[in-house]
Amino acid sequence: MEDETREHVPVLVEEVAQYLAIKPGDVILDCTVGLAGHARMLAESAGDSGLLIGMDVDELNLQSASQRMEGCSCRCRLFRSNFAEFDEVLASAGVATVDVIFADLGISSAQLDDPKRGLSFMQDGPLDMRLDERLSETAADLINRLGETELADLIYKYGQERFSRRIARAVHYARRDRRIATTAELVDIIARALRVNPNSRAAKIHPATRTFQALRIAVNDELGALERLLARAPARLNPNGRIGIISFHSLEDALVKHDFRARKTDGIYHVLTKKPLAASADEVARNPRSRSAKLRVAERIAS
Ligand SMILES: C[S@@+](CC[C@H](N)C(=O)[O-])C[C@H]1O[C@@H](n2cnc3c(N)ncnc32)[C@H](O)[C@@H]1O
Repeated sequence: MEDETREHVPVLVEEVAQYLAIKPGDVILDCTVGLAGHARMLAESAGDSGLLIGMDVDELNLQSASQRMEGCSCRCRLFRSNFAEFDEVLASAGVATVDVIFADLGISSAQLDDPKRGLSFMQDGPLDMRLDERLSETAADLINRLGETELADLIYKYGQERFSRRIARAVHYARRDRRIATTAELVDIIARALRVNPNSRAAKIHPATRTFQALRIAVNDELGALERLLARAPARLNPNGRIGIISFHSLEDALVKHDFRARKTDGIYHVLTKKPLAASADEVARNPRSRSAKLRVAERIAS
């Protein structure tokens, strides 16, 4: 039985459909199948002669995806794997090249809303943050292990947090008494360091937003995985095949933008989105998570 409380509203669905322009019979690689919102739509367009290969590091999301793909005429193969290793997944599926590579980066609402995952500063839970529970180091392990300077650098680099040194110092003092183990403890330390009330509605963003982003990126090596995906994609795309990536923060978007630009210069890609596509005001009103989504799409040049 599917747990219908596990929800995720896919973003930029019309834009993805328009720019990926799936044809009947296409072979599609969805690198972040999540709860299959995009996957289902892409698979329907590929029809019964198509193939959707979906992957995700999260076992629970994969189970939901498998249920949500039921009844779709397109053939579907799902794999628990990191998209950094998508070559191995294609080999397991017996496929050499694909027509479409798609990734909708980051996390699903189902993961964010589950306090046990420790991804949200709005709910108390273990400071975990691993999307793939097979990873050995949690956010709590990381924050208790790193030296003060290393931690400040990490929060600055991945969170673009200008108060990173102040936060790292506060963490350093707090963990001398006891190990920091929960999201609420970390939120409290950050709020005290910045002398703000975490529940105040006055601030534009929650004071823990950037630190949580930084830890999540580091725990899951999110930028490393994206770099490997981008590096391997051209060799696996058929001529005129398309790659579409939705990112949710500027560090990811910068990687995609620079990769597409460099490959355009090398005559490998046509870039189809001169500027990244963003959600309409309507979509943002319906689904606030779409606010920071950016879609970039490129096409493999035939020769
Ligand atoms: C934004 S959600 C995707 C939602 C999906 N497009 C939908 O419509 O339901 C991102 C998903 O990517 C997965 N993910 C994040 N990093 C990954 C990685 N490096 N390799 C594979 N899956 C990853 C997450 O576990 C999550 O399920």
